[in-house]
Amino acid sequence: MRDWTLTRDADGYATLAFDKAGAAVNTLSAGAMAELAEALDALDATPPKGLVIRSAKASGFIAGADIDEFRAAKTPEDGLAIVRRGWELFERLANVRYPTLALVKGFCLGGGLELAMACRYRVAVDDPSTRMGLPEVMLGIVPGWGGIKRLPRLVGAPAALDLLLTGKTVDARRAKRLGLVDEAVPMRIAENTVAGVIRALPPPRRLPFPLSLTQNPLARRVIAASAARKLRARARPEHYPAPYTILALFARFDGNALAPPPDDPASMQSLLRAPDFGNLIRVYTLQERLKALGKDSDFKARHVHVIGAGTMGGDIAAWCALRGFTVTLQDQDAARLAPAMGRAAKLFASRLKDARRVRDASDRLVPDVAGDGAARADVVIEAIFENVDAKRQLFAKLEAAAKPGAILASNTSSLKLADIAAGFKDPSRLIGIHFFNPVPQMMLVEVVSGARTDPALAKNAAAFVRQIDKLPLPVKDSPGFLVNRVLGPYMQNAFRLLDGGMKPETIDAAMEAYGMPMGPMELADTVGLDICLAAGKELAREGTEAPRVLLDKVAAKKLGKKTGEGIYRYENGKAVKGAPDPFQPALMQALIAPYLEEAKAVLAEGIVADADLIDAGLIFGTGFAPFRGGPLHSLRETK
Ligand code: NAI
Repeated sequence: MRDWTLTRDADGYATLAFDKAGAAVNTLSAGAMAELAEALDALDATPPKGLVIRSAKASGFIAGADIDEFRAAKTPEDGLAIVRRGWELFERLANVRYPTLALVKGFCLGGGLELAMACRYRVAVDDPSTRMGLPEVMLGIVPGWGGIKRLPRLVGAPAALDLLLTGKTVDARRAKRLGLVDEAVPMRIAENTVAGVIRALPPPRRLPFPLSLTQNPLARRVIAASAARKLRARARPEHYPAPYTILALFARFDGNALAPPPDDPASMQSLLRAPDFGNLIRVYTLQERLKALGKDSDFKARHVHVIGAGTMGGDIAAWCALRGFTVTLQDQDAARLAPAMGRAAKLFASRLKDARRVRDASDRLVPDVAGDGAARADVVIEAIFENVDAKRQLFAKLEAAAKPGAILASNTSSLKLADIAAGFKDPSRLIGIHFFNPVPQMMLVEVVSGARTDPALAKNAAAFVRQIDKLPLPVKDSPGFLVNRVLGPYMQNAFRLLDGGMKPETIDAAMEAYGMPMGPMELADTVGLDICLAAGKELAREGTEAPRVLLDKVAAKKLGKKTGEGIYRYENGKAVKGAPDPFQPALMQALIAPYLEEAKAVLAEGIVADADLIDAGLIFGTGFAPFRGGPLHSLRETK
């Protein structure tokens, strides 16, 4: 066998260790599954007293099925064959005569968790790297290898559906509390625990009485119906069928994806035949591609210096400190630093929970009015007012002070990098690292190269963006880069319709029906109408007038969410909306057309290297309807 090693000890216990040949992580490819079946044949021939399944890789247990095989499936029958292969193999594993145990350290996801759940016992190593979950729903597929059957039996229906429908993962301790694993222990006693459990054979854990009631067929239907109602508020079945398929399989087929007749909406055939099937897998691979862009350099940052503690600089500094960097934050005086430090404290408290980790993060964020940090930093990020002279003056000092290999970056949205670089002795040292607001939520960061930027610097900057857990998108220096350039005409067009008398609710409802996370009117309020107006002016062609409603609102200081009123009024941070008017699908097309046109123009002008990167940037930078697989992809599909 190439991927698995079967060993037996003198006492009659066997171990199956998974170490997928030629791969950094273990995935359950067709080959690895066939070998596992072979190993089970050998064990059937001479049954062991017990079997332990584990990973021989340092990087985790099993990451899941082999996504590329799913992508390569051309017909619903091919997809169904993959489901059948795993379902039958794991049913077999679940029914072997000898006791089985999975030892889990690191990620244990999708098919990997389904394998672990088919064992009689699970021992998880309590380590920060251990994450267990069934993320299939995020790829538009379902855990068809027994996950929908076995998870509710182990943890009860409510917790199981929560994991199945969101794809979120749990750590070892939470897995133990839920009943997903029998033991969660530190690494140093893991081997002993495994040996103890497989020899002592404790009675498998049973669901506590109230949760056991959630197993009967009637209760399942009631629970699934209530979950479906909640689901509808965040995912439309016509856009995201997979979670609804999971619910139907759970409620009516005991989690067996092979059981529904082919024409049943819950069947694999129906799911695989849906027009958008495969697009969420595409989004996942696009995300992997952005992540890989950070791997072309071994640049490692430890200290980040941020200048400008306003909306952006304050949040960038806090985010970097959260991610483990030492951060010095500079502004004109201490009073201007205070609000940023306050926001940072809130971010740390909400993300880190544990008091010691919150304190450590706060210690890493250092107020630095004098700007001494600039000389020690590996990355210097400028986020001061959008004024080219001010930025030039500042960078003249920074260029002299900074370490030779340090990244010197501007967060500018609308200035030309070349204009800022004009003040440099060595303009090849300047790069744009353009974050989006709100920094903690927005995954994408544009890495902007000017005509003279050193290409090696762009690679280092992308590596840094990965180190702070964001997704880097390389773009050329050009007005609006990618994201704002594409949003500009889309927002303008929406505002023209508003000027023409259309209700904002109707505009937003049409774009939400298209699949955007938020319509353009609410988006404008969220960004701030003043910012929209300024950005629009920067990007507009000569002679275009700003939309009337936008001008009036800004003049009246109704700037959106931050002032409590803009296009909408806000109560407790939520827009108060009236009912939209009925609309035709043509309205969706009219609203999205300028967006799609601009995406094509960016491609034609070579501002981003290729169509897939544009799609990736717009999905992660603007939330473009993920189930459509990206704007340029959707244009190809509808042709
Ligand atoms: P802001 O007005 O909220 O904050 C700017 C801060 O810089 C102020 O605290 C100011 O005191 C400080 N500052 C100005 N000159 C300084 C100097 N010479 N030395 C030290 N501190 C100085 O501005 P905001 O919105 O945070 O924007 C900053 C930069 O980020 C701009 O270049 C903008 O284009 C860009 N940006 C803004 C986005 C947004 O949504 N607000 C989004 C992405 C980029």
